[in-house]
Amino acid sequence: MNTPAAIGFFDSGVGGLSVLRHALDKVCAIPLVYVADSGYAPYGDRSTDAIIARSRHITRFLIEQGAGAVVVACNTATAAAIDVLRNEFPVPIVGMEPALKPAAAATGSGHVAVLATQGTFGSARYAKLRSNHDKQVHVHEQVCPHWVEVVEQGDLNNPRVLDVINASLAPLTSTAVDTYVLGCTHFPFLEASIRRVVGEQITIIEPGTAVVEQLRRRLNLQHCENQRSPLRAFTSGETDRLNRQFETLIGVAIEADRLPD
Ligand code: DGL
Repeated sequence: MNTPAAIGFFDSGVGGLSVLRHALDKVCAIPLVYVADSGYAPYGDRSTDAIIARSRHITRFLIEQGAGAVVVACNTATAAAIDVLRNEFPVPIVGMEPALKPAAAATGSGHVAVLATQGTFGSARYAKLRSNHDKQVHVHEQVCPHWVEVVEQGDLNNPRVLDVINASLAPLTSTAVDTYVLGCTHFPFLEASIRRVVGEQITIIEPGTAVVEQLRRRLNLQHCENQRSPLRAFTSGETDRLNRQFETLIGVAIEADRLPD
């Protein structure tokens, strides 16, 4: 396939930065365009129809910006909308799903926990994924209230963060779970705090690098590591806030623009 003029990424907010950060110098300097749909975050509690409408609007915008491939850097939006996007748009669309397959390969105890949004757990896509693995491993599912919110706020050293994580994970720490799947792209930013709760011996799987590898395969990109991509960013929320979030979460300076309605 031809090398695209740009690659688009989107998420309900800044979660997708946990994927984008792995692409910055791994895609042959192809320009990257990131959309944070912060004016509509979180997606986790929204209806499937609402998430499809936002995903369609953003994908159309990214293609107008030159994107010849789009990464849905959000498990919830992938679960709700990826089939629709692939049907409607003539570009490769790469999505995310909780990394149950590598978790099933990694677990020693046979107990795996998936941390994700209600939207992801409630989807037909996730049900199918789970049914491919639940004969092999015991899958514990945990919705994590307020985790997306604390990442969006960006104050990751606030003591409240640990309380929020503890409240969700405490029930799991007394089980045989030895492998945690971060099934929401916001959660990798909480990994240090998650580790403080679950301990050092536990395996934590986040799919950011695997998704970028999949993107590279899909676009047939080879031998172009260490070439930095130019980056633009848009938000349906406040641009100043997105600028600060880029700096805090992935150490990148940008000047974001408003996403048109
Ligand atoms: N980051 C998103 C995900 O991967 C969703 C967060 C949300 O908006 O609820 O599922």
